Amino acid sequence: MDESFGGGTTAVARAHSNIALVKYWGKRDAVLNTPAVGSISVTLDALHTDTRVTFRTDLGDDEFLLDGRRGDVTRVSRVLDLVRERAGHGQRALVSSTNNFPTGAGLASSASGFAALATAAAGAAGLALSDRELSILARQGSGSAARSIFGGFAEMHSGVAADGSDSYAEQLLDSSEWPLSVAVAITERGQKSINSTVGMVESAATSPFYSAWLDSAGDDLVEMRAAIAARDFARLGELSEYNCLKLHALMLSTRPALIYWNAATVAAMHAVRDLRGQGVAAYFTIDAGPQVKVLSLPADAAAVQAALANVPGVLEVRGSALGLGAHRLE
Ligand code: DP6
Repeated sequence: MDESFGGGTTAVARAHSNIALVKYWGKRDAVLNTPAVGSISVTLDALHTDTRVTFRTDLGDDEFLLDGRRGDVTRVSRVLDLVRERAGHGQRALVSSTNNFPTGAGLASSASGFAALATAAAGAAGLALSDRELSILARQGSGSAARSIFGGFAEMHSGVAADGSDSYAEQLLDSSEWPLSVAVAITERGQKSINSTVGMVESAATSPFYSAWLDSAGDDLVEMRAAIAARDFARLGELSEYNCLKLHALMLSTRPALIYWNAATVAAMHAVRDLRGQGVAAYFTIDAGPQVKVLSLPADAAAVQAALANVPGVLEVRGSALGLGAHRLE
Protein backbone atom coordinates (compact mmCIF):
# COMPACT_ATOMS: atom_id res chain seq x y z
CA MET A 1 0.00 0.00 0.00
CA ASP A 2 1.32 3.44 -0.87
CA GLU A 3 -0.13 6.57 0.68
CA SER A 4 1.36 9.12 -1.68
CA PHE A 5 -1.30 9.35 -4.39
CA GLY A 6 -3.80 12.17 -3.81
CA GLY A 7 -3.86 11.63 -0.08
CA GLY A 8 -5.50 8.20 -0.46
CA THR A 9 -4.25 4.63 -0.41
CA THR A 10 -3.21 3.39 -3.82
CA ALA A 11 -2.23 0.13 -5.50
CA VAL A 12 -1.57 -0.75 -9.13
CA ALA A 13 -1.95 -4.23 -10.63
CA ARG A 14 -1.62 -5.93 -13.99
CA ALA A 15 -3.65 -8.92 -15.18
CA HIS A 16 -3.65 -10.73 -18.50
CA SER A 17 -6.58 -11.82 -20.57
CA ASN A 18 -7.41 -15.50 -20.89
CA ILE A 19 -9.08 -17.77 -23.40
CA ALA A 20 -11.15 -20.75 -22.29
CA LEU A 21 -10.47 -24.16 -23.82
CA VAL A 22 -13.46 -25.64 -21.95
CA LYS A 23 -15.92 -22.81 -21.69
CA TYR A 24 -18.15 -21.19 -19.10
CA TRP A 25 -21.70 -20.35 -20.26
CA GLY A 26 -24.57 -20.21 -17.78
CA LYS A 27 -24.86 -19.15 -14.14
CA ARG A 28 -25.63 -21.10 -10.99
CA ASP A 29 -26.40 -17.90 -9.08
CA ALA A 30 -26.70 -14.55 -10.85
CA VAL A 31 -26.10 -12.40 -7.73
CA LEU A 32 -22.94 -14.21 -6.60
CA ASN A 33 -22.04 -14.77 -10.26
CA THR A 34 -21.23 -18.44 -9.74
CA PRO A 35 -20.94 -20.40 -13.00
CA ALA A 36 -23.20 -23.34 -13.83
CA VAL A 37 -20.23 -25.24 -15.28
CA GLY A 38 -16.51 -25.37 -14.58
CA SER A 39 -14.05 -24.12 -17.21
CA ILE A 40 -10.37 -24.41 -18.16
CA SER A 41 -8.36 -21.61 -19.76
CA VAL A 42 -4.93 -20.39 -20.78
CA THR A 43 -3.75 -16.91 -19.78
CA LEU A 44 -2.42 -14.77 -22.65
CA ASP A 45 0.83 -12.88 -22.28
CA ALA A 46 0.15 -10.38 -25.11
CA LEU A 47 -3.09 -8.88 -23.77
CA HIS A 48 -3.20 -7.15 -20.42
CA THR A 49 -4.98 -4.53 -18.32
CA ASP A 50 -3.23 -2.23 -15.83
CA THR A 51 -5.46 -0.86 -13.08
CA ARG A 52 -4.78 1.77 -10.40
CA VAL A 53 -7.13 1.96 -7.42
CA THR A 54 -7.06 4.80 -4.90
CA PHE A 55 -9.42 4.86 -1.90
CA ARG A 56 -10.14 8.41 -0.76
CA THR A 57 -12.12 9.99 2.03
CA ASP A 58 -13.20 12.97 -0.12
CA LEU A 59 -15.17 11.14 -2.85
CA GLY A 60 -18.98 10.87 -2.90
CA ASP A 61 -18.96 8.00 -5.41
CA ASP A 62 -16.63 5.56 -7.11
CA GLU A 63 -15.18 6.86 -10.34
CA PHE A 64 -13.99 4.62 -13.16
CA LEU A 65 -11.85 5.62 -16.14
CA LEU A 66 -11.17 3.08 -18.91
CA ASP A 67 -8.44 4.18 -21.31
CA GLY A 68 -8.98 7.74 -20.12
CA ARG A 69 -12.75 7.77 -20.68
CA ARG A 70 -15.48 7.45 -18.08
CA GLY A 71 -16.65 3.81 -18.01
CA ASP A 72 -19.65 2.01 -16.49
CA VAL A 73 -18.98 1.91 -12.75
CA THR A 74 -21.71 -0.60 -11.73
CA ARG A 75 -19.70 -3.82 -11.74
CA VAL A 76 -16.59 -2.00 -10.58
CA SER A 77 -18.48 -0.77 -7.51
CA ARG A 78 -19.76 -4.29 -6.84
CA VAL A 79 -16.18 -5.52 -6.48
CA LEU A 80 -15.15 -2.42 -4.50
CA ASP A 81 -18.12 -2.92 -2.12
CA LEU A 82 -16.84 -6.41 -1.27
CA VAL A 83 -13.37 -5.01 -0.61
CA ARG A 84 -14.77 -2.18 1.55
CA GLU A 85 -16.84 -4.67 3.53
CA ARG A 86 -13.75 -6.76 4.27
CA ALA A 87 -11.57 -3.75 5.01
CA GLY A 88 -14.23 -2.26 7.29
CA HIS A 89 -14.36 1.17 5.70
CA GLY A 90 -16.66 3.02 3.34
CA GLN A 91 -14.18 5.05 1.32
CA ARG A 92 -15.03 5.50 -2.36
CA ALA A 93 -12.35 4.88 -4.97
CA LEU A 94 -10.81 6.32 -8.10
CA VAL A 95 -10.20 3.48 -10.55
CA SER A 96 -8.20 3.99 -13.71
CA SER A 97 -7.62 1.12 -16.17
CA THR A 98 -5.71 0.90 -19.42
CA ASN A 99 -5.73 -2.00 -21.85
CA ASN A 100 -2.76 -2.65 -24.13
CA PHE A 101 -5.27 -3.77 -26.79
CA PRO A 102 -8.35 -2.09 -28.29
CA THR A 103 -11.10 -2.02 -25.65
CA GLY A 104 -14.42 -3.44 -26.76
CA ALA A 105 -12.95 -5.36 -29.69
CA GLY A 106 -14.05 -8.67 -28.21
CA LEU A 107 -10.65 -9.53 -26.78
CA ALA A 108 -11.90 -10.53 -23.33
CA SER A 109 -11.19 -7.24 -21.57
CA SER A 110 -13.52 -8.11 -18.69
CA ALA A 111 -11.33 -11.08 -17.69
CA SER A 112 -8.11 -9.06 -17.46
CA GLY A 113 -9.99 -5.99 -16.21
CA PHE A 114 -11.69 -7.54 -13.19
CA ALA A 115 -8.66 -9.64 -12.24
CA ALA A 116 -6.54 -6.46 -12.23
CA LEU A 117 -9.27 -4.58 -10.32
CA ALA A 118 -9.59 -7.26 -7.61
CA THR A 119 -5.81 -7.37 -7.13
CA ALA A 120 -5.35 -3.58 -7.06
CA ALA A 121 -8.42 -2.90 -4.87
CA ALA A 122 -7.41 -5.50 -2.28
CA GLY A 123 -3.90 -4.02 -2.28
CA ALA A 124 -5.11 -0.44 -1.93
CA ALA A 125 -7.33 -1.49 0.99
CA GLY A 126 -4.36 -3.13 2.71
CA LEU A 127 -5.91 -6.61 2.53
CA ALA A 128 -3.54 -9.56 2.18
CA LEU A 129 -5.77 -11.94 0.23
CA SER A 130 -4.77 -15.37 -1.04
CA ASP A 131 -5.00 -16.11 -4.78
CA ARG A 132 -8.13 -18.13 -4.04
CA GLU A 133 -9.75 -15.18 -2.27
CA LEU A 134 -8.74 -12.88 -5.13
CA SER A 135 -10.24 -15.34 -7.60
CA ILE A 136 -13.54 -15.34 -5.69
CA LEU A 137 -13.47 -11.54 -5.63
CA ALA A 138 -12.68 -11.25 -9.37
CA ARG A 139 -15.47 -13.74 -10.17
CA GLN A 140 -18.00 -11.32 -8.73
CA GLY A 141 -16.93 -8.78 -11.36
CA SER A 142 -16.88 -11.28 -14.23
CA GLY A 143 -16.79 -15.10 -14.19
CA SER A 144 -13.90 -15.42 -16.63
CA ALA A 145 -11.82 -12.98 -14.52
CA ALA A 146 -11.54 -15.58 -11.74
CA ARG A 147 -9.18 -17.54 -14.05
CA SER A 148 -6.97 -14.52 -14.91
CA ILE A 149 -5.67 -14.41 -11.32
CA PHE A 150 -3.49 -17.33 -12.44
CA GLY A 151 -0.90 -17.65 -15.18
CA GLY A 152 -0.51 -20.59 -17.54
CA PHE A 153 -3.39 -23.06 -17.36
CA ALA A 154 -6.24 -22.45 -14.89
CA GLU A 155 -9.38 -24.35 -13.96
CA MET A 156 -12.48 -22.62 -12.60
CA HIS A 157 -14.68 -24.72 -10.32
CA SER A 158 -18.44 -24.18 -10.51
CA GLY A 159 -18.71 -25.19 -6.85
CA VAL A 160 -21.83 -26.27 -4.97
CA ALA A 161 -21.88 -23.99 -1.90
CA ALA A 162 -24.77 -21.52 -1.70
CA ASP A 163 -22.42 -18.70 -0.67
CA GLY A 164 -20.06 -19.17 -3.63
CA SER A 165 -17.10 -19.99 -1.36
CA ASP A 166 -16.06 -23.02 -3.46
CA SER A 167 -16.46 -21.25 -6.80
CA TYR A 168 -12.91 -20.17 -7.65
CA ALA A 169 -10.11 -20.91 -10.09
CA GLU A 170 -6.86 -22.77 -9.45
CA GLN A 171 -3.69 -23.11 -11.47
CA LEU A 172 -3.19 -26.41 -13.30
CA LEU A 173 0.21 -25.62 -14.84
CA ASP A 174 2.54 -22.66 -14.93
CA SER A 175 3.15 -21.15 -18.39
CA SER A 176 6.74 -22.47 -18.36
CA GLU A 177 5.55 -26.04 -17.75
CA TRP A 178 3.93 -26.29 -21.19
CA PRO A 179 4.63 -23.34 -23.49
CA LEU A 180 1.93 -22.98 -26.15
CA SER A 181 1.22 -20.24 -28.67
CA VAL A 182 -2.06 -18.51 -29.38
CA ALA A 183 -2.74 -16.44 -32.50
CA VAL A 184 -5.66 -14.02 -32.25
CA ALA A 185 -7.30 -13.20 -35.59
CA ILE A 186 -9.28 -9.96 -35.31
CA THR A 187 -12.15 -9.90 -37.79
CA GLU A 188 -14.14 -6.95 -36.44
CA ARG A 189 -13.29 -3.98 -34.23
CA GLY A 190 -16.74 -2.87 -33.10
CA GLN A 191 -18.56 -3.86 -29.90
CA LYS A 192 -20.36 -7.19 -30.04
CA SER A 193 -24.16 -7.08 -30.06
CA ILE A 194 -25.12 -9.19 -27.02
CA ASN A 195 -22.70 -9.39 -24.11
CA SER A 196 -21.95 -12.71 -22.41
CA THR A 197 -23.86 -11.92 -19.22
CA VAL A 198 -27.09 -11.35 -21.12
CA GLY A 199 -26.47 -14.05 -23.73
CA MET A 200 -25.96 -16.84 -21.21
CA VAL A 201 -29.18 -16.01 -19.37
CA GLU A 202 -31.06 -16.18 -22.69
CA SER A 203 -29.48 -19.55 -23.59
CA ALA A 204 -30.48 -21.01 -20.21
CA ALA A 205 -34.04 -19.73 -20.63
CA THR A 206 -34.67 -20.71 -24.25
CA SER A 207 -32.29 -23.29 -25.74
CA PRO A 208 -33.39 -26.95 -25.71
CA PHE A 209 -29.67 -27.78 -25.76
CA TYR A 210 -28.90 -26.04 -22.44
CA SER A 211 -29.47 -29.13 -20.29
CA ALA A 212 -27.19 -31.16 -22.61
CA TRP A 213 -24.55 -28.41 -22.26
CA LEU A 214 -24.69 -28.72 -18.47
CA ASP A 215 -24.75 -32.53 -18.52
CA SER A 216 -21.72 -32.88 -20.81
CA ALA A 217 -19.46 -30.23 -19.21
CA GLY A 218 -18.01 -32.59 -16.60
CA ASP A 219 -16.73 -35.03 -19.24
CA ASP A 220 -14.96 -32.24 -21.13
CA LEU A 221 -13.27 -31.03 -17.94
CA VAL A 222 -12.04 -34.55 -17.09
CA GLU A 223 -10.67 -35.03 -20.60
CA MET A 224 -9.04 -31.59 -20.75
CA ARG A 225 -7.34 -32.10 -17.38
CA ALA A 226 -5.96 -35.42 -18.69
CA ALA A 227 -4.77 -33.83 -21.97
CA ILE A 228 -2.96 -31.08 -20.03
CA ALA A 229 -1.41 -33.51 -17.54
CA ALA A 230 -0.15 -35.67 -20.45
CA ARG A 231 0.96 -32.61 -22.51
CA ASP A 232 -1.10 -34.15 -25.34
CA PHE A 233 -1.51 -31.20 -27.70
CA ALA A 234 -3.65 -32.96 -30.34
CA ARG A 235 -6.09 -34.06 -27.64
CA LEU A 236 -6.17 -30.57 -26.08
CA GLY A 237 -6.74 -28.94 -29.47
CA GLU A 238 -9.40 -31.35 -30.71
CA LEU A 239 -11.30 -31.03 -27.43
CA SER A 240 -11.02 -27.21 -27.49
CA GLU A 241 -12.60 -27.05 -30.96
CA TYR A 242 -15.31 -29.51 -29.98
CA ASN A 243 -16.20 -27.60 -26.81
CA CYS A 244 -16.19 -24.27 -28.69
CA LEU A 245 -18.47 -25.58 -31.44
CA LYS A 246 -20.77 -27.15 -28.84
CA LEU A 247 -21.05 -23.74 -27.14
CA HIS A 248 -21.84 -22.07 -30.46
CA ALA A 249 -24.50 -24.73 -31.18
CA LEU A 250 -26.06 -23.70 -27.85
CA MET A 251 -25.81 -20.02 -28.81
CA LEU A 252 -27.32 -20.66 -32.25
CA SER A 253 -30.25 -22.53 -30.70
CA THR A 254 -30.99 -19.65 -28.28
CA ARG A 255 -34.08 -17.57 -29.08
CA PRO A 256 -33.44 -15.02 -30.48
CA ALA A 257 -30.31 -16.65 -31.89
CA LEU A 258 -26.87 -15.55 -30.72
CA ILE A 259 -24.85 -15.47 -33.94
CA TYR A 260 -21.43 -14.16 -33.00
CA TRP A 261 -19.66 -15.20 -36.23
CA ASN A 262 -19.11 -13.15 -39.35
CA ALA A 263 -17.89 -14.37 -42.74
CA ALA A 264 -14.23 -13.96 -41.75
CA THR A 265 -14.80 -15.94 -38.54
CA VAL A 266 -16.01 -18.90 -40.59
CA ALA A 267 -13.25 -18.47 -43.20
CA ALA A 268 -10.65 -18.51 -40.40
CA MET A 269 -12.11 -21.75 -38.98
CA HIS A 270 -11.74 -23.36 -42.42
CA ALA A 271 -8.20 -22.00 -42.76
CA VAL A 272 -7.27 -23.70 -39.47
CA ARG A 273 -8.75 -26.99 -40.63
CA ASP A 274 -6.85 -26.63 -43.94
CA LEU A 275 -3.64 -26.07 -41.98
CA ARG A 276 -4.23 -29.35 -40.18
CA GLY A 277 -4.71 -31.00 -43.57
CA GLN A 278 -1.20 -29.78 -44.38
CA GLY A 279 0.20 -31.30 -41.20
CA VAL A 280 0.27 -28.18 -38.98
CA ALA A 281 -1.24 -28.91 -35.56
CA ALA A 282 -3.48 -25.85 -35.10
CA TYR A 283 -6.88 -25.67 -33.42
CA PHE A 284 -9.35 -22.79 -33.08
CA THR A 285 -11.57 -21.53 -30.32
CA ILE A 286 -14.08 -18.64 -30.35
CA ASP A 287 -15.87 -16.81 -27.53
CA ALA A 288 -18.96 -14.59 -27.58
CA GLY A 289 -17.63 -12.54 -30.45
CA PRO A 290 -16.24 -12.78 -33.99
CA GLN A 291 -12.50 -13.11 -33.20
CA VAL A 292 -10.78 -16.47 -33.74
CA LYS A 293 -8.07 -17.66 -31.36
CA VAL A 294 -5.80 -20.39 -32.67
CA LEU A 295 -3.72 -22.69 -30.49
CA SER A 296 -0.45 -24.18 -31.70
CA LEU A 297 2.93 -25.32 -30.51
CA PRO A 298 5.48 -22.45 -30.53
CA ALA A 299 7.35 -23.99 -33.52
CA ASP A 300 4.22 -23.58 -35.68
CA ALA A 301 3.23 -20.11 -34.48
CA ALA A 302 4.68 -18.22 -37.47
CA ALA A 303 2.97 -20.51 -40.01
CA VAL A 304 -0.36 -20.17 -38.19
CA GLN A 305 -0.12 -16.36 -38.04
CA ALA A 306 0.79 -16.16 -41.74
CA ALA A 307 -2.14 -18.39 -42.74
CA LEU A 308 -4.60 -16.34 -40.66
CA ALA A 309 -3.29 -13.05 -42.08
CA ASN A 310 -4.20 -14.36 -45.55
CA VAL A 311 -7.84 -15.04 -44.68
CA PRO A 312 -10.19 -12.53 -46.36
CA GLY A 313 -11.70 -10.26 -43.71
CA VAL A 314 -9.04 -10.85 -41.07
CA LEU A 315 -7.95 -7.32 -40.08
CA GLU A 316 -5.04 -8.11 -37.81
CA VAL A 317 -3.32 -11.10 -36.22
CA ARG A 318 -1.68 -10.94 -32.79
CA GLY A 319 0.57 -13.67 -31.53
CA SER A 320 0.82 -14.53 -27.85
CA ALA A 321 2.63 -16.86 -25.53
CA LEU A 322 1.03 -17.99 -22.27
CA GLY A 323 1.26 -15.34 -19.57
CA LEU A 324 1.57 -14.66 -15.87
CA GLY A 325 -1.12 -14.38 -13.26
CA ALA A 326 -2.36 -11.06 -11.88
CA HIS A 327 0.30 -9.18 -9.93
CA ARG A 328 1.02 -5.85 -8.26
CA LEU A 329 3.13 -3.41 -10.27
CA GLU A 330 4.69 -1.21 -7.58
C1 DP6 B 1 -17.73 -17.26 -23.93
O1 DP6 B 1 -16.98 -14.00 -17.91
O2 DP6 B 1 -17.74 -12.42 -19.72
O3 DP6 B 1 -15.92 -16.07 -22.93
O4 DP6 B 1 -19.48 -13.64 -15.68
O5 DP6 B 1 -21.33 -12.58 -16.94
O6 DP6 B 1 -19.10 -11.45 -16.84
P1 DP6 B 1 -19.84 -12.77 -16.85
O7 DP6 B 1 -19.44 -13.50 -18.20
P2 DP6 B 1 -18.02 -13.62 -18.89
O8 DP6 B 1 -18.31 -14.86 -19.87
C2 DP6 B 1 -17.29 -15.49 -20.62
C3 DP6 B 1 -17.91 -16.40 -21.63
C4 DP6 B 1 -16.96 -16.98 -22.64
C5 DP6 B 1 -16.40 -18.32 -22.18
C6 DP6 B 1 -15.32 -18.28 -21.13
O9 DP6 B 1 -14.52 -17.33 -21.06
O10 DP6 B 1 -15.26 -19.27 -20.35
